[in-house]
Amino acid sequence: MKYDQSITAPQELAQGQTSDTLWTIRPMQNSDLPQVLAIERSSYPEPWNEELFHHELSLTNSHLLVGCAAQEIAGYLCFWDLGCEVEIHNIATAPSMRRRGVGQRLLSYLDEWMARRGISDVFLEVRCGNEAAIRLYQRYGFSVTGQRRRYYSDGEDALLMGRHRESSGPSRPLNEAKGS
Ligand SMILES: CC(C)(COP(=O)(O)OP(=O)(O)OC[C@H]1O[C@@H](n2cnc3c(N)ncnc32)[C@H](O)[C@@H]1OP(=O)(O)O)[C@@H](O)C(=O)NCCC(=O)NCCS
Repeated sequence: MKYDQSITAPQELAQGQTSDTLWTIRPMQNSDLPQVLAIERSSYPEPWNEELFHHELSLTNSHLLVGCAAQEIAGYLCFWDLGCEVEIHNIATAPSMRRRGVGQRLLSYLDEWMARRGISDVFLEVRCGNEAAIRLYQRYGFSVTGQRRRYYSDGEDALLMGRHRESSGPSRPLNEAKGS
């Protein structure tokens, strides 16, 4: 079992305190979907719909986490555990919370999650023009491993990005994320 998505008070997976805000990372629940969908729709030209989030929540190898600042959902991460590697399927931060370390915290949590399981490889696809996401991934040691021409329905190319760590250790401890 990954997490119990149905429990009313989800367990916290990580938490920290900035000068003014308590932040936590916990499993996403069905009841989070209204907030998550609002962030999703403001983040992507082709957002996931509610049905797709429900589907991801039902898959045993799909992990969905929310990052909360003062109890409000600030961002989320969806990744697949493929056994020997991890694929990031979705990461987004609420527009009002961007450049405040939410993405970093979610990726730092993923680093620790992978290190605990001895998983060294992580990969994803990102739009060629998505500079914010590409910079975030580069900061976490990802590099471009390939390109898929006209991958998205509007014709934009996708970059394949990945990272391999010999030690599979985290790049830095979770409490060193921005603002902690
Ligand atoms: C990509 C995204 C998740 C980044 O989230 P975030 O919480 O704002 O990221 P962070 O604050 O943790 O940023 C960490 C680092 O990433 C880089 N970065 C993030 N946003 C950036 C931007 N707009 N321009 C340049 N670099 C950026 C910077 O290096 C930043 O560190 P700094 O703020 O100290 O310079 C966010 O912009 C987003 O939700 N975009 C829409 C959804 C999306 O495109 N997801 C990725 C799909 S592949």
